[in-house]
Amino acid sequence: MTDDAILAEGSTALVTGASAGIGRAVAAALSARGVRVICAARRLQRLEALVEELPNAALALELDIADGEAVDGLLQRLPEDWRQIDILVNNAGHDLGGRQAFHQRDASDIAAVIETNVTGMMRTTLAILPGMRQRGRGHIVTIGSVNGVEPALNHSVYVGSKFAVHGFTNSLRQELQGSGVRLTEVMPGLVRTEFASARWLGDEERAQEFYDRYDAALAPEDVSDAVLYALDTPAHVSICDLVLRPA
Ligand SMILES: NC(=O)c1ccc[n+]([C@@H]2O[C@H](COP(=O)([O-])OP(=O)(O)OC[C@H]3O[C@@H](n4cnc5c(N)ncnc54)[C@H](OP(=O)(O)O)[C@@H]3O)[C@@H](O)[C@H]2O)c1
Repeated sequence: MTDDAILAEGSTALVTGASAGIGRAVAAALSARGVRVICAARRLQRLEALVEELPNAALALELDIADGEAVDGLLQRLPEDWRQIDILVNNAGHDLGGRQAFHQRDASDIAAVIETNVTGMMRTTLAILPGMRQRGRGHIVTIGSVNGVEPALNHSVYVGSKFAVHGFTNSLRQELQGSGVRLTEVMPGLVRTEFASARWLGDEERAQEFYDRYDAALAPEDVSDAVLYALDTPAHVSICDLVLRPA
């Protein structure tokens, strides 16, 4: 580890979507490395329970990233000594009403997917990036998907959202060259989380059936391992894309 290591005791991270799945695993892994973690999501009670369990100082932040005003003002809502964020993990995302033919989709569900996966992710980045640039130090890790580069049947809205994530991330990385801020996209294949249940409004049976159709799936901890790997590289190394698939 170098002196300017970002994955270090005393660094501060903001993890969106920390109340479940991959985000929760990332928050736990960062905290285990001594990072102060701001755990953000809509379900505050879950975040408060998580913060109690984490081994290091952590904060629960109720945040809907689809709520533009809430995102724009998120730093001001934090205690002053938590506002210098070194690590942003853009993880929050969903596929509300997904996995069906596009012509059968509900327009408001489509808007909700884009407002979270694309606009919310960009707006969160916009809230945090200026401070990182000013300090010349930061690492943003965005959770994309293999669906950010591969089309999939009956999955057009989610795929569209993750293609947007991939295009945005790769373009922004060019702007950040020489700024001291690194940007990594972690792109997993199927991960067994609450994602399918959230897609079908808590229908656990349908979600289990969905996951059971596949021979293998990643665990949230496989993805958090990849996030920590990217964060742990020396400052002169930029891990751009990390693609993970179930073997
Ligand atoms: N599971 C997979 O197979 C898979 C594969 C590739 C990529 N991904 C990506 O991985 C990320 C995490 O998904 P997951 O699999 O861990 O799903 P998950 O278990 O359903 O967790 C999703 C998290 O995102 C939060 N969230 C959703 N909408 C939000 C919003 N508008 N504002 C704030 N938080 C929000 C949820 O918290 P609240 O409901 O409490 O807000 C929850 O903490 C997503 O970006 C997803 O697209 C998943």
